[in-house]
Amino acid sequence: MTLIRKAVFPVAGLGSRFLPATKAQPKEMLPIVDKPLIQYAVEEAVAAGVTELVFITGRNKRAIEDHFDKAYELEAELEAHGKQALLDVVRGVIPKHVNCIYIRQSAPLGLGHAVLCARPVVGNEPFAVLLADDFMDTPGGTKPVLAQMTELYAYERSSILAVQDVPRENTRQYGIVSASPYRPGLELVSNIVEKPAPEVAPSTLAVVGRYVLSGSIFGYLENLGTGAGGEIQLTDGIAALMQHERVLAYRYAGQRYDCGSKLGYLKATAAVGLKHPETAEGFRACLASLLEEGKTS
Ligand code: UTP
Repeated sequence: MTLIRKAVFPVAGLGSRFLPATKAQPKEMLPIVDKPLIQYAVEEAVAAGVTELVFITGRNKRAIEDHFDKAYELEAELEAHGKQALLDVVRGVIPKHVNCIYIRQSAPLGLGHAVLCARPVVGNEPFAVLLADDFMDTPGGTKPVLAQMTELYAYERSSILAVQDVPRENTRQYGIVSASPYRPGLELVSNIVEKPAPEVAPSTLAVVGRYVLSGSIFGYLENLGTGAGGEIQLTDGIAALMQHERVLAYRYAGQRYDCGSKLGYLKATAAVGLKHPETAEGFRACLASLLEEGKTS
């Protein structure tokens, strides 16, 4: 049985890198082929045994609530026309044993502030945080990334951050950790800084959008001032937590696509499109001919 029952999905960001697509709809509703990013993240959490989904929402995020709600009219239409397969797709968006809880972040004051908004629901339990715009693709036969982490949590009982190496010129886009070997795949974090310049970054090991955190993080977040970019940073909360509790960094198995960026989103769409049973063949041919055209034009 999993020890992590609750997952927090901070979805209140502005998504400014994806304007104008995100002017009136959340970036988490952008689809990768036929499923919105947030649904992939929810499925990853449910696969890890999570049963309480806590969405931290903001303005323009109603589409997310609607997506996980019952769609009476649509279901009635599909039923009337005998479209059972589609009806199953619509009804299967969220399993029955899972609960959705929505909390509004009144202003986008930062990821740390968004996570703190979940405190009344999470309490003092360990919990997961998933950033849906970090799309995690795992090869067949490999567990989804959050499940890899909750399994480690069951053994380690410490906060765990998903990390990957990034090019030094990109350190400004991430929280960057210093860490030392702990056991295979896991490192002990000794320092964490938000968006350091490449010249001063303590390493090139970057935190990406999957976390398992101790409930005591809330106490530290509560006492934080604003950090990098004038926002309340989750990274600063983790830095404070680390002074009192062990924090581990985990090099997950899988491929991450930064779907908050245009290129990352296109890469994810291509990766999934080339695997999806309905599109794989046609899309492969399409890509080949586009590349051929590109060579000659
Ligand atoms: P990002 O840095 O990707 O911010 O936030 P953003 O505003 O969504 O996107 P850009 O940079 O303007 O294009 C990381 C995660 O934290 C959430 C975002 O929704 C995203 O999942 N977030 C950020 C909040 O929920 N609230 C905030 O105040 C800030």
